[in-house]
Amino acid sequence: MPSLSFILRYFRYLNKSVTAHSLHSPYMYQLMTEVIENRTRYKEVLLPERLKKKLLSSKEEILVTDLGGGSHHIQGEWRKVKHLAHYSGRRHRPGKLLYRLVKHFNPNVVLELGTSLGIGSLYLKAALPSARIVTIEGCPNIASLARRNISEIGASDVEVVEGDFASVLTLEFIKSLNPKMVVFDGNHRKGPTIDFFNRLVDLATSETVFIFDDIHWSKEMEEAWEDIKADKRVRVTIDLFIFGVVLFRKEMSRQHFVLRNWDSF
Ligand SMILES: C[S@@+](CC[C@H](N)C(=O)[O-])C[C@H]1O[C@@H](n2cnc3c(N)ncnc32)[C@H](O)[C@@H]1O
Repeated sequence: MPSLSFILRYFRYLNKSVTAHSLHSPYMYQLMTEVIENRTRYKEVLLPERLKKKLLSSKEEILVTDLGGGSHHIQGEWRKVKHLAHYSGRRHRPGKLLYRLVKHFNPNVVLELGTSLGIGSLYLKAALPSARIVTIEGCPNIASLARRNISEIGASDVEVVEGDFASVLTLEFIKSLNPKMVVFDGNHRKGPTIDFFNRLVDLATSETVFIFDDIHWSKEMEEAWEDIKADKRVRVTIDLFIFGVVLFRKEMSRQHFVLRNWDSF
């Protein structure tokens, strides 16, 4: 059950959000009508959906090292894989939205912070079959399970890097990878979110896109999102409730959009 404060945050978002008819920017209008509101049934998303379905009936339990912002739902070190899939694995509708966004921006290299069981990584791979997808997971047992899941689905070119974001995200790592898209879906706390944003933003170019997951998950995450919006290097932000999209395009004037999206849950 979502908390009352989360429900209130959702209604506050709905109240602020606009539909395609209120958008004057042709770029935003196209993004809204062709990507956000797109109802095409892409067959590629069946792979991550199938993986999630399979994991939801898993009987396996694994020993988990919790490095993230904690979970509202699962406590303790031994966790059922089916619970991880249910609470941390990407849901179908936000997964499809992520798939459409990633396909639209079409980056050649994507970095995902937070692999969990690999469901989200497979949405990225489904959207960009020939791109380089690198995903970081700090819990060793989750990372090996993700590798197994990803290779069983036949996407073994998705690279799972095992380690804490704080130690993996060095300047050398970021420079050599040169990601054109970063999906932040690991630590849902303000301090680390801003820290990882700062490490990656210096190398962002005009074509780089950042996607932050769960920007309204908590008051802390909303504060982090406000700080990111206020950063002078950022040109355009798009609040889709479940995701916050950040663009650095020099040709665009600084603006913050809140777009109505029905695919957050
Ligand atoms: C919400 S889950 C990721 C879900 C996944 N992106 C998906 O869409 O299916 C977050 C994951 O990030 C990992 N994580 C959290 N904080 C981390 C950190 N500081 N370093 C490395 N991994 C971390 C957790 O172990 C967890 O598996």
